[in-house]
Amino acid sequence: MNLLELKDLNRHFGTVKAVDAVSLTVQRGQFITLLGPSGCGKTTTLRLIAGFEKPDSGTIHIGGQMVVGQGAYKPPEQRRIGMVFQDYALFPHLNVADNIGFGLKGSRAEKQARVEAMLELVALPHLADRMPHALSGGQQQRVALARALAPQPDLLLLDEPFSNLDAALRAQVRAEVRTILRNAGTTAIFVTHDQEEALSLSDKIAVMFEGKVRQFDTPQQIYNRPASRSVARFIGEANFVPAEANGAKATCVLGEVTLLTPMQGKVDVLIRPERIHLEPTQGGVPAQVLWSEYYGHHQRLGARLDDGTELVIHTDAQVTYTPGQRVGVRVYVPLLGYKAQ
Ligand SMILES: Nc1ncnc2c1ncn2[C@@H]1O[C@H](COP(=O)(O)OP(=O)(O)OP(=O)(O)O)[C@@H](O)[C@H]1O
Ligand SMILES: [Mg+2]
Repeated sequence: MNLLELKDLNRHFGTVKAVDAVSLTVQRGQFITLLGPSGCGKTTTLRLIAGFEKPDSGTIHIGGQMVVGQGAYKPPEQRRIGMVFQDYALFPHLNVADNIGFGLKGSRAEKQARVEAMLELVALPHLADRMPHALSGGQQQRVALARALAPQPDLLLLDEPFSNLDAALRAQVRAEVRTILRNAGTTAIFVTHDQEEALSLSDKIAVMFEGKVRQFDTPQQIYNRPASRSVARFIGEANFVPAEANGAKATCVLGEVTLLTPMQGKVDVLIRPERIHLEPTQGGVPAQVLWSEYYGHHQRLGARLDDGTELVIHTDAQVTYTPGQRVGVRVYVPLLGYKAQ
């Protein structure tokens, strides 16, 4: 069942189309990511959903009920939405338990039981009496999440909640948050401009550019079948190689390749760097290593084919490639083609 439906939503600030004809449908229990560069309209979209911002036009339905559009308007406090912000926004003068219990209604005992359940959920029962300033970033993050989840919202909105955490903690906290939300069965919309975060956490990703949703799909589809070159480039590294398509096959500098969808005429095929197979000795199409970067679990290198085509390649780090070295490259997997521009 659809929990949230955005239809043709618009919000312009002067000449800036912050949100431009956005339509999205989110099912109950899904974890959706809004992914896009700075200024593409992610926060504005969340603010429209939460009710902190009113659209110029378009409608929003939550749980089948229209909350805004066609004259309807429900204020934020009636939308059953929880929000977690980038800076956590904990109340500095309240301890952890009181922060979590702040927005709760009901008897004292009911509130206390709910706070305890939330502390349990985020694994912080031992810190109930701590003040926010005496918590680590990751702990503050979990308190903010517990506070947002305490009133049992139908929908949780998270606006770049991990951006203040260092890389290691970030990976740990986001995995925890994902588990907590899954266990609570919460529907969530999560904003990030981190591609890896979007790919690893989401049921579906909405890729936004300049106020528009350019693709709304599963992580696998977004990565393997990006709707456009810009989506392809934003969601990872992309090589585009000119090719001549003839149905399910195409010919390019790498020889004959298979196309994911049949095309005709001049196309560019998308080749992800890790789909290129490197042969350290002979075999494959001859190329020369231009540069290499070592990342431990893999290495990233640039190679130039004899016709001048340059490719970025990711390969495992067992063999060390050095600039100037001759190698052979091959592509075995079917590729996605885009009409040549
Ligand atoms: N209140 C406002 N008045 C004028 N312009 C605004 C306002 N709010 C947002 N904008 C503009 O709308 C566009 C979208 O802003 P928004 O904050 O939604 O982007 P974002 O995707 O969240 O970016 P970031 O990743 O940097 O947080 C930007 O160009 C921004 O400058
Ligand atoms: Mg933002």
